[in-house]
Amino acid sequence: MPDMLVKLYALPDGNPDAVRLREQGVEVRRAIAPEKYLVVEWVRQQFNQHWASECEVSFTRSPVSCYVAIASNRVLGFACYDATMKNFFGPTGVAEPERGRGIGGALLVATLQAMHAEGYAYAIIGGVGPAEFYQKAVGAALIDGSTPGIFGGMLR
Ligand SMILES: CC(C)(COP(=O)(O)OP(=O)(O)OC[C@H]1O[C@@H](n2cnc3c(N)ncnc32)[C@H](O)[C@@H]1OP(=O)(O)O)[C@@H](O)C(=O)NCCC(=O)NCCS
Repeated sequence: MPDMLVKLYALPDGNPDAVRLREQGVEVRRAIAPEKYLVVEWVRQQFNQHWASECEVSFTRSPVSCYVAIASNRVLGFACYDATMKNFFGPTGVAEPERGRGIGGALLVATLQAMHAEGYAYAIIGGVGPAEFYQKAVGAALIDGSTPGIFGGMLR
């Protein structure tokens, strides 16, 4: 699984998907510390222990480096940055029944904009699954020779 590079300085302004989702009752925003136990447990149940561990670390950052999509007091998706490595985006995920509504894209853009605001010029998407999603949503480019990257030899 290769890494990808995103030009944060070339991101378009605004987050039209997040605006549209808000009209549909879905809020995309930075998580806050009291939500840690709920969000981390949600990530564990929906995805896996590794991602839950990374998400937990994102709650130790200041500001919290985790964004969530929520509706009716329910988590629909999450996206982290600066979890395993500084400058890395991820992990991210959307609940299966909610996919294809723009939630993953809105979380991605909100998180990358936050990284840019914190002073990064580029973001690295670590160990990508759906490269096409990142390429289409934010013009991410594969980094040559980045497999297995920082996750090589990880305990499983
Ligand atoms: C990847 C993921 C976060 C995308 O979330 P989502 O809410 O479905 O994404 P969006 O609705 O914003 O999709 C944006 C676009 O990317 C495309 N896309 C989404 N997932 C894709 C995938 N796996 N492969 C290729 N394209 C994908 C969509 O078709 C959509 O294109 P469109 O605008 O032309 O319709 C979600 O599929 C997911 O949680 N997957 C499992 C976890 C995962 O793989 N996380 C990433 C690890 S690097």
